[in-house]
Amino acid sequence: MVLGPPGAGKGTQASRLAEQLGIPHIATGDMFREAAAEDSETGRRIRQIMETGELIPDEMTNELVRERLLRSDARSGFILDGYPRNLEQAATLDQILDEVGTKIDLVIKFMVRGPDIVERLRGRRVCPVCRAVYHMATHPPKDDEVCDNDGAPLIRRDDDLEETTLRRLEVYGEQTRPLYELYAERGLLTEMDALGSTDEVFRRLLAVVGR
Ligand code: AP5
Repeated sequence: MVLGPPGAGKGTQASRLAEQLGIPHIATGDMFREAAAEDSETGRRIRQIMETGELIPDEMTNELVRERLLRSDARSGFILDGYPRNLEQAATLDQILDEVGTKIDLVIKFMVRGPDIVERLRGRRVCPVCRAVYHMATHPPKDDEVCDNDGAPLIRRDDDLEETTLRRLEVYGEQTRPLYELYAERGLLTEMDALGSTDEVFRRLLAVVGR
């Protein structure tokens, strides 16, 4: 499991690690962005909540994760990114893991500084088609503002606008931070310096997971 504030680089690193390990990267933010793109009542509701920086209701989130973890490709391991987000979700995760018959081996806390978070979120651009993540300064696309994979024009996430970013950071402080204590008490938490280039951070991550 990767934990950390918005913009800490969790998605960037978790997707690379998942590819290297050959296991799924289960990111609730990505799953909700997919759902939000749908032209349905649920899609609109999710979109509205995400645009404000608040959390999607626990019931909906827990069910989504439960269904995902029950899929056969998660049997040989997975990386959880963006879930759990509060103590209620952590309690439900325990039940889901019991049901699935597995456990969390490691919780990695991404350590970053406030100014780096702001800079990372400000420069982030994403591909609306394949969901690849770029940064205009530190990880730019080869061609100006289009995705390297499929040529789609890159966009800024709606929730990366300054006001929403501030609210997301508050929600993280109020609801997600208590998880560190929970997982530290269980002896699962490892802190990792998430500053430096993406390659440097990835090398640290590999060392943390023993690769
Ligand atoms: P989610 O998508 O989970 O957002 P987040 O946790 O705020 O995380 P981010 O995606 O913003 O950041 P990241 O740490 O993955 O950083 P990234 O790798 O992209 O959630 C979005 C919303 O969905 C929530 O607000 C909520 O509404 C809903 N939601 C999701 N999960 C939920 C849940 N469990 N319950 C309820 N609601 C939920 O990197 C950021 C930028 O920095 C990129 O541009 C990247 O290129 C760049 N970068 C990365 N690493 C480096 C580096 N080492 N050096 C320089 N730049 C870097």
